[in-house]
Amino acid sequence: MVSRVIPVEAFDLVIFGGTGDLARRKILPGLFRRFCAGQMPPEARIIGAARSDMDDAGYRDFVRAAILEFDPGRPQNCPQLDSFVTTLGYVTTDARGEAGWADLAKRLRDGAVRAFYFSVGPGLFGDLAERLKLYGMAHRQARIVVEKPFGRDRDSARALNATLAQHFAEDQIYRIDHYLGKETVQNLMAVRFGNLLFEPIWSAQYVDHIQITVAETVGVGGRGGYYDKSGAMRDMVQNHLMQLLCLIAMEPPSKFDPDAVRDEKLKVIRALDPVEPHHIVRGQYDATGDEPSYREDAGDARSKTESFIALKTHLSNWRWSGTPIYLRTGKKLKARTSEIAVVFKDTPHSIFGADARSEGVGGGQNVLSIRLQPNEGITLGVTIKEPGPGGMRLINVPLDMSFADALGPEVEEVPDAYERLIMDVMRGNQTLFMRGDEVEAAWAWTDPIIEGWVARGDVPKTYDAYSAGPEDALMLMHRDGRRWREVKS
Ligand code: BG6
Repeated sequence: MVSRVIPVEAFDLVIFGGTGDLARRKILPGLFRRFCAGQMPPEARIIGAARSDMDDAGYRDFVRAAILEFDPGRPQNCPQLDSFVTTLGYVTTDARGEAGWADLAKRLRDGAVRAFYFSVGPGLFGDLAERLKLYGMAHRQARIVVEKPFGRDRDSARALNATLAQHFAEDQIYRIDHYLGKETVQNLMAVRFGNLLFEPIWSAQYVDHIQITVAETVGVGGRGGYYDKSGAMRDMVQNHLMQLLCLIAMEPPSKFDPDAVRDEKLKVIRALDPVEPHHIVRGQYDATGDEPSYREDAGDARSKTESFIALKTHLSNWRWSGTPIYLRTGKKLKARTSEIAVVFKDTPHSIFGADARSEGVGGGQNVLSIRLQPNEGITLGVTIKEPGPGGMRLINVPLDMSFADALGPEVEEVPDAYERLIMDVMRGNQTLFMRGDEVEAAWAWTDPIIEGWVARGDVPKTYDAYSAGPEDALMLMHRDGRRWREVKS
């Protein structure tokens, strides 16, 4: 396959929090991979900025070690690590003081694309934005990249938006939700809007329900302090699951451009119904073997924070009125899997009689399953005749399109979400980033749900580690005569 990597223009990228965990695990190894792929030009410069005392040579060693730790096989396949590290520099910078800022300003080149990655807690966003302005670095071509969590409710998100808006215009602010950078998430848009096939049946008239599952096997050990203040609702539903829901439910945008896409996503969020308390199940994983329980990981024996949530909601709009939408996510579940399943209604009448129906894969209904991870791909469950004698017996089998199989061994390596998103920042393409009003609207839907359980003093149900979550979550579906798709990798 001919390489279709289009190099981006030379850029200066400053990573605030350049020695932090996200920078080591994701941002810097991701940039190295783009360098190897020929997308990051050798004239690009990456400047780490953090409080630690370090010089350029020290940072180069630091980044080399991070790449060898988090992507150990890469330097063997791509012998360009030495050239990559020459693009790196470091400035000791105090986000709340004056140290380092003048030096940082001197390092940036006029005329090059300029981006500042705020890989720090949101408490520092305002300080960084203000100093970038003060030291003359926030010119009209500058971009800032901000990480989640973007606030912890609508008011704090609104305040953050207002703070950033004092120094940067909306088209300079790139709010990252790394789920939008995943290959299959973009494929979802290609499948929906690049084929005629699905659009006529993409509505309440033909869709029985939609279910979205993001299941993880990891617990919260190591980041229990942060997580216990968030919980699954703030950590996953308000952002990642909400974004997936938007892409699956939105109207076709008039073009694939940032505002056209984000306008349609915003309409979805605003059409979401409030969630009834009895349509929410929260859980906390239990201890197993010598592995701690959620409460032990969180360091709070009475924590009421959820490590699992399942809920049912609806969209009040013409297309989806009456179609239930089930969302589910949790830690320490049976398998690591993320899937969106569009479950279609049964045929209005079976000409083959009730006896002909056999369960098969995915029951009798057509299910379009979009798998984000692992084994990215799309499967459509269709009913066929069970082969062989014995009359007309029906079976549901998957029409499977695993991208790896379908596109063959020559397919270029799929970039990780962060790599793709950082390159989009450099190209100035905001389509896969959240707009300020979208984030606020997502919180406006989330806030009353959280306030409700806080006011009622709800305590999450305990569930077995490495299970499918609390029994009540299964009941949420069973009561409606439906069932969750199996959590399996
Ligand atoms: C992060 C959450 O945003 O996404 C984590 O804070 C979660 O709790 C992670 O583990 C999941 O991302 P991925 O790409 O591994 O599915």
